[in-house]
Amino acid sequence: MTTRPPSFFIKTWGCAMNVHDEQKMASLLEADGLVRAPRAAQADVILLNTCSVREKAAEKLFTFLGRLKGLKRESPGRVIGVTGCVAQQEGERIFQRAPHVDLVLGPRRLARLPELVRQARREHRATDTALDDLTAIFWDGGAAKRPGGKAFITIMEGCNMGCTFCIVPRTRGREVHRPFDEIVEECRRRVGEGLTELELLGQTVNAYRDGRRLFHHLLDDVARLPGLQRLRFTSSHPAFFTPATAAVMAAHETICPHLHLPVQSGSDRILRAMRRGYTVGDYLRRLDDLRRRIPDVALSTDIIVGYPGETEEDFEATLELMQRVRFVQVFAFKYSPRPETPAAGIEDDVPEAIKSARLARLFALQDRISLEENARMVGRVVPVLFDGPSRLDRNVASGRTPCNRVVNTLGLHPDDAAGRMLRVRISRAHTHSLGGIAVDPEGCLDLPGIASYKGGHRVVLGSENRRPAEGR
Ligand code: 5AD
Repeated sequence: MTTRPPSFFIKTWGCAMNVHDEQKMASLLEADGLVRAPRAAQADVILLNTCSVREKAAEKLFTFLGRLKGLKRESPGRVIGVTGCVAQQEGERIFQRAPHVDLVLGPRRLARLPELVRQARREHRATDTALDDLTAIFWDGGAAKRPGGKAFITIMEGCNMGCTFCIVPRTRGREVHRPFDEIVEECRRRVGEGLTELELLGQTVNAYRDGRRLFHHLLDDVARLPGLQRLRFTSSHPAFFTPATAAVMAAHETICPHLHLPVQSGSDRILRAMRRGYTVGDYLRRLDDLRRRIPDVALSTDIIVGYPGETEEDFEATLELMQRVRFVQVFAFKYSPRPETPAAGIEDDVPEAIKSARLARLFALQDRISLEENARMVGRVVPVLFDGPSRLDRNVASGRTPCNRVVNTLGLHPDDAAGRMLRVRISRAHTHSLGGIAVDPEGCLDLPGIASYKGGHRVVLGSENRRPAEGR
């Protein structure tokens, strides 16, 4: 008789770092003989990989844990674990609040996951939240692959900035930077494996350095790797976004013309209070310089509304900045105090109703700008890297333009399109996505199987075939 191998299920919240951590955890467990279960209810090991950047994100853990109580009662041998930033922040306090949890593991100790899972199965308690271990962080198992031939490459971990609102330095620790040559080698290997798009990852990715070699040197070296089609990086900090980086971005076709540069506020007074280390003027000068070099560059940002002391005037300065920059996408949040951050001791004095009203005004403005910016894409032919089904319709193939816009393409089956780069004529613009038709499957015949879509793909022949891909 064969015994069934133990199975695991991971639920992840939060940033790209967390998504990457999930991939690392899955690889570690698979190497230890576990198999992935499609649902939590079927898994012997359930891991909740958490985010604590905002209060709302952290609360999701406890809501989810509440739902797992029944499963644990049903089969007490099952392991329930909490990983990620809430694990780091709360440590063993999680056991008190949720006694059905067996394992708590901080992001810097991921390498110990298989060992701790075994311990948790035996003893119903296993924990490690030390912040000084580096082994797991830069470990580059085969797990880094994401749908669509993409991979994340961690180049640095942690954050040395002292932004007053931010819990990340506490949950991810001080910065550690991976050796330059090791990164380039991993990228070379990944491209050799046939991956199409690499994304360099770090909490403040552009603060990267290895001795005298800085982020833009790394970007330049990776961008030159033969066979690499797309290179991205996230998240950048405005204080480190140099003209040298902008120049490297402009110099390489492989580097996607997209920059996510969190500004947080359009008011100098608030930026100073947040200790962000730049002014609105500095920020705009950097973007102006980048736009001079790459006129079509797509910009996105993060904004916090209702930081302590934010007045109507401060908030309006943020709206003005948004009108001036015209971001393609804005991620905006109501300020929430986080434990043990420098701002935790400052009175959270902007009333909830005002925070909500400001957020709604901000999104109303941004939705209009996003739609207008997306509408400018209609009629252009852009290379789209397909990565899976559309979020709204599992039968529609979805991918990304170089400038990181989502494109849903009718007539392509997601399974066939995934991992392929196809030229798409943009025919529709929405606030958060574009729609289009693949115009040139002929030109992609070097990609095996491209002519045989399921789902009745209509081949559009004619002048489009000879047009160079315009737009980015
Ligand atoms: N409250 C609200 N938003 C926050 N962010 C970080 N900390 C907080 C907080 N305490 C936002 C910032 C950051 C993004 C990842 O989350 O905008 O860039």
